[in-house]
Amino acid sequence: MLEIKNSTAVITGGGGGIGLALAEYWVSNGGKVLLADVAEKFLEAAENHLKEWSGNVRKIVCDVTNENDCAKMADFAIEQFGAINLVAPFAGIIKDGLMVSPDAATGKVTRKMPLAQFQSVLDINLTGVFLTVRECAERMINNNCKGLICLISSTGSLGTAGQINYSSSKAAMSVFPKVITAEFFRRGLADKIRCVAVAPGYVGTAMVRKIPPAALDKIIEQIPIGRLVEPYEVASLVGELYRNESLAGEVYFIHGGLRLGSKG
Ligand SMILES: NC(=O)c1ccc[n+]([C@@H]2O[C@H](COP(=O)([O-])OP(=O)(O)OC[C@H]3O[C@@H](n4cnc5c(N)ncnc54)[C@H](O)[C@@H]3O)[C@@H](O)[C@H]2O)c1
Repeated sequence: MLEIKNSTAVITGGGGGIGLALAEYWVSNGGKVLLADVAEKFLEAAENHLKEWSGNVRKIVCDVTNENDCAKMADFAIEQFGAINLVAPFAGIIKDGLMVSPDAATGKVTRKMPLAQFQSVLDINLTGVFLTVRECAERMINNNCKGLICLISSTGSLGTAGQINYSSSKAAMSVFPKVITAEFFRRGLADKIRCVAVAPGYVGTAMVRKIPPAALDKIIEQIPIGRLVEPYEVASLVGELYRNESLAGEVYFIHGGLRLGSKG
């Protein structure tokens, strides 16, 4: 079993939501955290909040779609803490819409999802994760670090209506744990650096709370536990995945029993 105490977590999207909840969990268990986010204002507030609990918190502005930013982030973690033990590339966005929207009266398509709306979600949720993981994994190997790469997929990876961009990004990313585990196995690294993903259902963060209340009530009606999953519950699962060294190469769902219906 690995211990969180004195280990270093690099968390993108750490300025809010599930990333910040994971940072809270990490420092409250004696770990060190590098928070990375594109939103400087959120990052500042998150750092100040965490510093009330621990001095072992650093922050860096990083756009995960930028190769240089990701390299600087990974270097900064090593400079500040000497190691990277948990990589949590949690930066992600949604930009929902139907692929094609026919008009109710005419039956003709009046709106199509613009390419930029599709591509921007792939850029952050898929390419951004690739860059974060590649840069951090390089430093982990070169600095002889032990730990976990823990990605964040979604129940959306199974296919949700209105999310062809988001669902595609999360479905593609869900294969990373298998590929990375197999590659590390080939190179004799799989016992030192494991890779998994968590796949939450609906979690009570800004991303979900901006859904109109009536629509959110309908969603909650479909969740067997009768409520949203809380961000700290996802953080706690990540903690268990980190500690338990038999867990590797898999995607772990956390959704309160939710099953997607035929209309997603
Ligand atoms: N909330 C949910 O219900 C839910 C469910 C399943 C998966 N997820 C996933 O969890 C992750 C976190 O979601 P959340 O609900 O906490 O969202 P959130 O919107 O609260 O936080 C996401 C963070 O990512 C940051 N970010 C966005 N683009 C970035 C970029 N280019 N570079 C760096 N940072 C960037 C934002 O500034 C924000 O602080 C996402 O990957 C999301 O897809 C969320």
